[in-house]
Amino acid sequence: MTNPPITLTDNEFALIQKIIFDEAGITLDESKKSMVQNRLFKRMAHYKFTKFNDYIRVVQFNRDERIEMINQLTTNETYFFREMLHFDFLASIASKHRSPEPFSVWSAAASVGAEAYSSAMLLDSILGSNGYQIIGTDINTEVLNKARIGLYPEVWVDKIPPELRSKSCLKGKGTYAHQFLIHPNIIEKVTFKEGNLLKEQQELGKFDIIFLRNVLIYFNDATREIVVRNTIKNLKVGGFLIISLTESIKHLPIEQLTYIENSIYRKETE
Ligand SMILES: C[S@@+](CC[C@H](N)C(=O)[O-])C[C@H]1O[C@@H](n2cnc3c(N)ncnc32)[C@H](O)[C@@H]1O
Repeated sequence: MTNPPITLTDNEFALIQKIIFDEAGITLDESKKSMVQNRLFKRMAHYKFTKFNDYIRVVQFNRDERIEMINQLTTNETYFFREMLHFDFLASIASKHRSPEPFSVWSAAASVGAEAYSSAMLLDSILGSNGYQIIGTDINTEVLNKARIGLYPEVWVDKIPPELRSKSCLKGKGTYAHQFLIHPNIIEKVTFKEGNLLKEQQELGKFDIIFLRNVLIYFNDATREIVVRNTIKNLKVGGFLIISLTESIKHLPIEQLTYIENSIYRKETE
């Protein structure tokens, strides 16, 4: 006989909504209730709990379990060279870079690293391995571990332009058949760190380009404003903030930014 499914009650869902909003700024609306129930099922099974309330109590008192919950509830879809226009823009800005300082990029919601490694492959071909540096951050510790390894399903390689693919990707064999590994020379150019966009991250330093793509969609407007204000503290004056083509921040009163084109903004003043 199969066990009856464990149902998430409205009260339990409300508690989870609050925890995820407070921790990550993410707004989970009613339509996400069954997704939450399904994704947390693994954690419930881990503890052999039969009521979500028991699990919520653990989350409230245990930071490690809060991190686990965030790992389960964030949406991490990404792919290489997503929104290619932005990589064309990156290439055009990088090829004009004249400063002796390495050209710097922050992938501020990096997921499993496709955005950071796409930037690295491109910048390596334009500036050489000493000419750039890249940091990727995310709140989800599980995706960061995957990003550090740099191993992806073979089908993901299709999005990488062939000339970069041959230099930057290694085809897997044996146990790794149907996967590819980012070349170690590229992997070593990218650092991945845990980082919450709700908090200032001044220790990361200042960047020429910041990617903040496909994450603002999970926030409400008040949180979006906080996140953008925090993020551009790490942008050099004259540097560019790139959000997704499907997102907009034009309605937010952020006076340091000027809209350029294709969801790209320039920072004009500190
Ligand atoms: C859909 S992915 C976007 C990946 C990549 N930027 C792209 O456009 O392909 C969104 C990422 O944002 C991360 N995220 C959500 N809330 C966050 C927060 N408060 N701080 C940092 N990262 C967050 C998620 O863990 C997830 O990996």
